[in-house]
Amino acid sequence: TISGASAAAVEKGNYRHFMQKEIFEQPTVVAQTLSSYLRRSDNSVALPQFDFDIGSVDRVTIVACGTSFYAGMVAKYWLEQFARVPVDIDVASEFRYRDPVLKPGGLALFISQSGETADTLAALRHCKENGQIIGAVVNVPTSSMAREADLLLPTHAGPEIGVASTKAFTCQLAVLAALAAHMAVRKGLMSREEEHDVVEHLLEAPACMNAALDHDDDIAAMAHLIAPARDVLYLGRGPDYPLALEGALKLKEISYIHAEGYASGEMKHGPIALIDDLVPVIVLAPSGPLFEKTVSNMEEVRARGGKIVLISDAEGLALAGEGCIATIEMPRVHPLIAPLVYAIPVQLLAYHTACVKGTDVDQPRNLAKSVTVE
Ligand code: G6P
Repeated sequence: TISGASAAAVEKGNYRHFMQKEIFEQPTVVAQTLSSYLRRSDNSVALPQFDFDIGSVDRVTIVACGTSFYAGMVAKYWLEQFARVPVDIDVASEFRYRDPVLKPGGLALFISQSGETADTLAALRHCKENGQIIGAVVNVPTSSMAREADLLLPTHAGPEIGVASTKAFTCQLAVLAALAAHMAVRKGLMSREEEHDVVEHLLEAPACMNAALDHDDDIAAMAHLIAPARDVLYLGRGPDYPLALEGALKLKEISYIHAEGYASGEMKHGPIALIDDLVPVIVLAPSGPLFEKTVSNMEEVRARGGKIVLISDAEGLALAGEGCIATIEMPRVHPLIAPLVYAIPVQLLAYHTACVKGTDVDQPRNLAKSVTVE
């Protein structure tokens, strides 16, 4: 729950809601977070000092809840792609009770805004007892998880007041991208040149996020199309699939619309049966090698009378924007930073839809900021 003191200490400024303010703060806090992981002097990725060789880690276990879990899902793509290390990921409430196989010396990574979520903290302690190196990506530096970690990877999002997480999420992504790149360097799998490129692309993220925020008015207008819906389907592929899950979570949390996130290619194995002209289908699809596959998934939707909202860059919209009920143009970005940039329209859409519906954006019913019960 939000303590009166912390909510009062942080001002809303000119914003209507804390959530709105926190969405708009993202370019700044992501830049702040990146600056403590990227060394500008030699364009390298640097992590805080710790006393084990991260290059020798041969297995990563990621555990988190809610939005933080989706940041972990994105990280799985990056850690596997860059550092070629197998990643096991689970929600904290399931993890401990399935008696996971934990080989000594593995890195267990806990992602949490609050650093206090009971399920995640219990999973952390379980991993500690089972010989794992404990890494924690947390936003509250004085939290239990921060104190109990061997490797503390702080996000510098500042206090997050809105119950539904926004800026903590993109800061988590920033830290996790840096971690994946650093691990790849330590494993000898990423050349200096490639590391430079990663640093350059990550440093482009805040400006690209600003460009995404420029579409606030378009998204506010689009919210009127989404607000009357009873069900919404969100689709994405690759690292944008977790973003589809996050988009659906946000719509549930604050707009009280039943929404499901699906991997674009998995739609034909179930959710396609739901599609009619009452279910908006929101597609997150930056242009790139997998774009055509997503276009055929969109055709499957269209053939069933489905209404598509396409969020893509100019190239993607030129190829597939026709016939959509709405489109939102994102800047053209490197695939590495796409999840950070596409998080913005996803958050804004839930935010504006909630405003249209008149729900309590910052304190949605039945939800708590920090869940300290299992
Ligand atoms: C609650 C919040 C979510 C958050 C989740 C995990 O459900 O409402 O916004 O993503 O907890 O919280 P954590 O602090 O561990 O990231």
